[in-house]
Amino acid sequence: MSENVSVKDLVRGDLINVSAAANLAFNEQVKALIKSGRQVYHFAFGQSPFPPPACLKEALQEFAHAHEYLPMVGIPELREELAKFHARYDNLSLNSDNFVVAPGSKILIYLVMTIFAGDILLPSPAWTTYVPQSRLAGKEPWILQTQQAQGWKLTPETLEEAVAGKGGSSWKLLILTNPGNPSGACYTDEELEALSVVCRQRRVIVLSDEIYARLTFSRRHASMAKHYPEGTILTSGFSKCASAGGWRLGYAHFPTALRSLMAVVISAASHTYTCAPAPMQYAVAKVLRENFDELDQYMRDCATVLEAVGNYCHRELASVGVGGCKSEAGYYFLPDFEVVREGLRARGPANGTHMTQSMLEEANVALMSAHDFLRPLEELTTRFCFVCFDGAEALRALKDHPSQENLSDDFLRQHCLPIVKGIQSLRQWVLKHREQ
Ligand SMILES: Cc1ncc(COP(=O)(O)O)c(C=O)c1O
Repeated sequence: MSENVSVKDLVRGDLINVSAAANLAFNEQVKALIKSGRQVYHFAFGQSPFPPPACLKEALQEFAHAHEYLPMVGIPELREELAKFHARYDNLSLNSDNFVVAPGSKILIYLVMTIFAGDILLPSPAWTTYVPQSRLAGKEPWILQTQQAQGWKLTPETLEEAVAGKGGSSWKLLILTNPGNPSGACYTDEELEALSVVCRQRRVIVLSDEIYARLTFSRRHASMAKHYPEGTILTSGFSKCASAGGWRLGYAHFPTALRSLMAVVISAASHTYTCAPAPMQYAVAKVLRENFDELDQYMRDCATVLEAVGNYCHRELASVGVGGCKSEAGYYFLPDFEVVREGLRARGPANGTHMTQSMLEEANVALMSAHDFLRPLEELTTRFCFVCFDGAEALRALKDHPSQENLSDDFLRQHCLPIVKGIQSLRQWVLKHREQ
């Protein structure tokens, strides 16, 4: 083709400005800097620092020969094991026939958004993917505000106000991320119960994204499916708890009342991705059936290391006046750098973009402004991923550590050094700008 074809002729009008996931794009930029020889403390990308558990690696090798197309919803033995998995951890009684297994939970969240007839409700802050997914699905989500003082968790009052105000009698779909990305916040049973009352009254279906549930530091995850079983679509997978993001295995469980929605999701699956990877389905089914204790110990160990690292980052930043709640699960928290606002203002606009650029240039720290996670640009919050360390080494060292629960700062200095160095560099940056 000789001439350049106009974007308007190629791309649906409402999608012209949809860009690649902000976190993936920023990660590419930081990786290029590191490749060019710059020392960068990469707190901007959240993927598991740990190698997958040995039992899963072995099982995946064992089933490498499985190359056939599998049932669209996943193999029956895996769906049965998933139901047992959630019974054991979350005290849920899920129906194995109501699971849909997929190459990651992301595609299932997208398909639900696409197929669902009503509006989408999205609490802020939110994972970078939900808004673009919703737009790809042809919907502009309603953003519901949450407060730092309330741990960035949606309150029943805010939900009620949003739904009653904009009203209509149609069903809505609330995307609830629990534990949170980017907040690291976990809802309690009481909070979920209170939300479920509004959901029932106001015809709100919940898509409860619980992908970080097994990395809850207290080990006590509260699931929305317990409080609102008839209206909760639960999504999760093995990308985080088994560090297997690239092996692509996620799933959704639909309540029986929503089987009509599930049927169209299955149909869409059959016409798009066909099925989840066969070796991975057999491998996970085997691990859940035969190596449960090993997987359980592995998840506990990962959570122990993550908790120590998360607490350290929070405590060190708090010691120089940085605000924000401590992470309760997963890889993230949302520190608030309000303390440097005046210092930043003296040198340019005091906003998240300017601040994170300054951190990268002056402290070699890569952080994403929480603006990418739906917070206002003027807010000086950032999403902090505390995973830039060698997870294999940390897990090995944990085995020899006398107190497997309370990891000291010495442990972190010895085995998670980039975290310690990066945090100290960021502390210096805060002190410099705080004093200006
Ligand atoms: C909140 C949240 N939900 C879902 C996903 C997607 O996970 P999967 O690998 O199952 O597609 C991620 C991955 O980063 C995530 O952070």
